Amino acid sequence: MEKKSRVLVVGGTGYIGRRLVRASLAEGHPTFVLMRPEIGLDIDKLQMLLSFKAQGARLLEASLDDHAGLIAAVKQVDVVISAMSGVHFRSHNLLLQHKLVEAIKEAGNVKRFIPSEFGMDPSRMQHALDPGRVTFDEKMELRRAIEEADIPHTYISANCFAGYFCPNLCQLGTLLPPKDKVHVYGDGNVKVIFVDEDDVATYTIRSIDDPRTLNKTIYLRPQDNILTQNEVIAKWETLSGKVLEKIQIPGDEFLASIKDMDFASQVGVGHFYHIFYEGCLTNFDIGEDGAEATLLYPEVGYTRMDEYMKRSQTCLAVSHQQPLAESMEKKGRVLIVGGTGFMGRRLVRASLAHGHPTFVLMRPEIGLDIDKLQMLLSFKAQGAGLLEASFDNHAGLVAAVMQVDVVISAMSGAHILQLQEKLVEAIKEAGNVKRFIPSEFGTDPSRMGHALAPGRVTFDEKMELRRAIEEANIPHTYISANCFAAYFCPNLCQLGTLSPPKEKVRIYGDGNVKVIFVDEDDVATYTIKSIDDPRTLNKTIYLRPKDNILSQNELIAKWEMLSGNILEKIYIPADDFLASMKDKDLFHQVAVGHFYHIFYEGCLTNFDIGEDGAEATLLYPEVEYTHAKNLQPRHRLPATS
Ligand SMILES: NC(=O)c1ccc[n+]([C@@H]2O[C@H](COP(=O)([O-])OP(=O)(O)OC[C@H]3O[C@@H](n4cnc5c(N)ncnc54)[C@H](OP(=O)(O)O)[C@@H]3O)[C@@H](O)[C@H]2O)c1
Repeated sequence: MEKKSRVLVVGGTGYIGRRLVRASLAEGHPTFVLMRPEIGLDIDKLQMLLSFKAQGARLLEASLDDHAGLIAAVKQVDVVISAMSGVHFRSHNLLLQHKLVEAIKEAGNVKRFIPSEFGMDPSRMQHALDPGRVTFDEKMELRRAIEEADIPHTYISANCFAGYFCPNLCQLGTLLPPKDKVHVYGDGNVKVIFVDEDDVATYTIRSIDDPRTLNKTIYLRPQDNILTQNEVIAKWETLSGKVLEKIQIPGDEFLASIKDMDFASQVGVGHFYHIFYEGCLTNFDIGEDGAEATLLYPEVGYTRMDEYMKRSQTCLAVSHQQPLAESMEKKGRVLIVGGTGFMGRRLVRASLAHGHPTFVLMRPEIGLDIDKLQMLLSFKAQGAGLLEASFDNHAGLVAAVMQVDVVISAMSGAHILQLQEKLVEAIKEAGNVKRFIPSEFGTDPSRMGHALAPGRVTFDEKMELRRAIEEANIPHTYISANCFAAYFCPNLCQLGTLSPPKEKVRIYGDGNVKVIFVDEDDVATYTIKSIDDPRTLNKTIYLRPKDNILSQNELIAKWEMLSGNILEKIYIPADDFLASMKDKDLFHQVAVGHFYHIFYEGCLTNFDIGEDGAEATLLYPEVEYTHAKNLQPRHRLPATS
């Protein structure tokens, strides 16, 4: 492995970045991923980084704002690949790469730098329309900086990422295939190039050690994926067995549609115009300063768009028609609402793992959120059905609910109460649901009547929903999951971070109050276990894994043993802790309140479970839950190891 170049991916948790990390590992490169301290409370990003680490990558901690740290990171590798964001409807920060270029220049050791391009060749887009031309102008500005600094480089011109252009038949503003009518750009006969994003990553990684690609632009032109929009539509019609109504849009009409659009959409229209009317991906021959990837690496078996669309076709056909296995038929049919969320995705997996026919609500509001869509498609590939319905469409919601026996909500967000009330209305009207689990999964709200403002809103809303459920006579189970391990355990219960402290740890009071930590996959498992169980009907299920009932001091001691690092302890009296709420934003104030109840008051453990509740590990002793001692190593971050 050491013979291959060491690769650092910057932007590794992004859409193309995560594929570059995987491809680099797959091709046997020692692979490093930049981990930015700005990660804050982004648990999805953190868990993706941890999964890279589990696959063999190393995480290098540095901020783009820390020049010395960035140089130190760059010095550890031979190749730097940037996958910095550059899509306006998602996030756009291409110029931040100047900081990376500066660091590479100063480090002086980098043998190849691949800046974040992966689209149209910006050097051919001098004529591009405003405001979309900003993408190309910025990419050219970066090229100039790279070349002026004499940094060896390769530019990747990846053409159209299939996920954004293919299953939607090149429609703007959606990722889903049109159902009846399709917009055709001009006569639909301009040749376009579609590339599977995993192939983009593979070709990129192939190029980094290749002398033929030094200081060149590599164009990805998989022969079988050079197609017109009409050809893409025809393929889809064959696959879906459905003929779509075609609406041809003349070029000037298309451009005029820019008026009154938001900035990101205007950028999109400009790019689409160049691609689908002008043919900017195919209207030139590759010259001396470039090379074509499939000719350089004919051994790569790239994905044909036929195959890509077949995958999408199976995945996006929304109804769940497959005959169910006999064992599955006996189990309750489960609908998960909020299935792409942190808890939701675990519930989907647990439901499938326990053999339940599993459905996930797919909201048409998904828009251009490709990460969400791809997660839904992965559920489908694992055997779940996708039920399309919006919260704004009562009848659709009722129809979705009618298909199942159990509804589990894992929703979150500012409108959680109002949206779940709509769900309760739908369940009430459908009348068939045998069990509803509302989105709780935390502290038992019925014991939090005394909670501090503003944090009490969480408990008040959950109680209001409970009243709606009970008034509608909906059979239910409430899950009191206590502290999600990922949020409380690796950070030793510190507020505002998910990473372990390096030198000092803040201790709440004397640190001896007992708290309960639960692995989130276990929360999902116990929840799914409870849904068909008569013992849990209309009860609250408390998750109290015996070995995970620990004080903060005990948790810190475990970490100190594991890391070999003794932390300085700073004890915070209750008054000081509460006073820290002042002048903070609402999020922080809510968190301080919740932490106060948990760590000073002991609200998770200061009561016995009564008649109206049951304890999960006693109900399901066969579940092998993750013990606290294994939670910390799993979440352990390299920066402190
Ligand atoms: N050809 C096509 O069809 C096509 C389609 C989409 C994108 N692209 C191109 O592909 C490239 C990557 O786009 P993407 O969609 O994969 O990007 P993305 O997922 O939106 O973001 C990539 C990464 O950018 C980093 N980032 C974002 N904001 C940052 C900030 N303020 N400070 C530091 N880092 C920040 C983050 O890195 P961390 O992981 O460190 O947090 C993030 O994961 C762009 O050049 C884009 O133009 C091409």
